[in-house]
Amino acid sequence: MESVEFHTARALLEWQIELGADECISDMPVDRYALPDKLAKPKQANPKPHLTRGPVKMESRDAVAEAEAAANGADSLEALRAAMEAFELCDLKRGARNMVFSDGIAGAPVMIIGEAPGRDEDRIGKPFVGASGVLLDKMFAAIGMGRTNADAPIYITNTLPWRPPHNRDPKPEEIAMMKPFLLRHIALADPKVLVIMGNWACQALLAKRGITRLRGHWTQAVDKPALPMCHPAYLLRNTDAKRDAWADLLSLKAAVDK
Ligand code: URA
Repeated sequence: MESVEFHTARALLEWQIELGADECISDMPVDRYALPDKLAKPKQANPKPHLTRGPVKMESRDAVAEAEAAANGADSLEALRAAMEAFELCDLKRGARNMVFSDGIAGAPVMIIGEAPGRDEDRIGKPFVGASGVLLDKMFAAIGMGRTNADAPIYITNTLPWRPPHNRDPKPEEIAMMKPFLLRHIALADPKVLVIMGNWACQALLAKRGITRLRGHWTQAVDKPALPMCHPAYLLRNTDAKRDAWADLLSLKAAVDK
């Protein structure tokens, strides 16, 4: 490849970052203009005409039904992880590097439901390992709990297991499609209480949005006591909200110790 002078290379890189190319996915660039015109399309092993034609409503209903069948067939967390790995109907999977299933200690009294993996989580394959994860760990350490604390453990998952491209908001049909897996995940992990972190988790489990109103008010989700809380990413941007988050953590601790 022709070498490029340092400042030109830097300007080119900055331009790419501005365009949204903020990740390196391969060591060498691919000149797509030099590729043959017609790349053979891989044959679909099990074509599903109903997923490529017809109204959107039908498509998502079928995908949801398939997700339900796959999720409800899993009788352990390992089987659920495998069923999710094998689920091909959610397009997010194709843009993600890793599926993010869970972290922490399964069977913990507290199960945290986040939103979706970000860049760091996608790279590492675990939930909450970036900046919001650092804050989340500090928040729970402040009430004596943690994902590696065998005496007072927490268990963490997300509403969606794959990173939405460029961290865009999840689409309602993506949430609906993956919800059967989330419900099964909660049933198999069987926590005492749920912490529903952020708007998208509230949307999935409570069919409500407006986390700043919902936070701190105990409710029921899938027959479990559930506490909506502001997402750590929100707290990083709105430090004034940390006072309420502390009140929520104390309320959570009291419910767990009861
Ligand atoms: N935000 C989330 O909701 N989940 C993660 O795993 C990371 C960031």
